[in-house]
Amino acid sequence: MDTEQVRLVPGGPESGEKLAARHRRYVGLSSGRMYRVTLADGGETVGSVGFWERSWRDAPIWETGWGILPEFQGRGLAAAAARAIVVEARAAGGHRYLHAFPSVEHTASNGVCRRAGFTLLGQAGFEYPKGHWITSNDWRFDLTGGDDG
Ligand SMILES: CC(C)(COP(=O)(O)OP(=O)(O)OC[C@H]1O[C@@H](n2cnc3c(N)ncnc32)[C@H](O)[C@@H]1OP(=O)(O)O)[C@@H](O)C(=O)NCCC(=O)NCCS
Repeated sequence: MDTEQVRLVPGGPESGEKLAARHRRYVGLSSGRMYRVTLADGGETVGSVGFWERSWRDAPIWETGWGILPEFQGRGLAAAAARAIVVEARAAGGHRYLHAFPSVEHTASNGVCRRAGFTLLGQAGFEYPKGHWITSNDWRFDLTGGDDG
């Protein structure tokens, strides 16, 4: 992704070395999974989406994140991918909640959360990467279909 694409992603663009390390981490995820987003018509790869485990407020949760290539944005693909990842995280089991933590300034990603049916709980500060503080929204999906699913 280019500089404009990752402007609102904490830490900004990554070096080739960091990207390779990120890819190795994704491939080696022991809980959760990364997926390509492909078009039903033709199978072209247009982005990625995934879920992984993290600790949040002293409890284990699933976290999700997504990216769609610029030329395919604005067609509802990220929202569809987010809805698909809800299904995958629910099937994986293990945790009740799937969270997303987009920066408060990231209108598009907050729009994806809203569109995919996540509930906005409030804001939270994150140090990511180290030494860089951002304010994110805490969006949550109840995978049991309970209070906010
Ligand atoms: C965030 C991102 C994945 C959105 O992808 P997308 O496929 O364009 O999103 P969608 O078309 O599914 O839009 C979902 C909702 O967000 C809204 N939205 C999307 N882009 C928007 C924008 N630039 N400004 C305002 N709202 C926007 C849409 O209107 C839609 O809501 P609606 O259906 O109520 O109208 C894409 O911009 C991206 O890949 N950005 C770079 C990577 C990134 O920032 N990832 C997220 C890290 S938290």
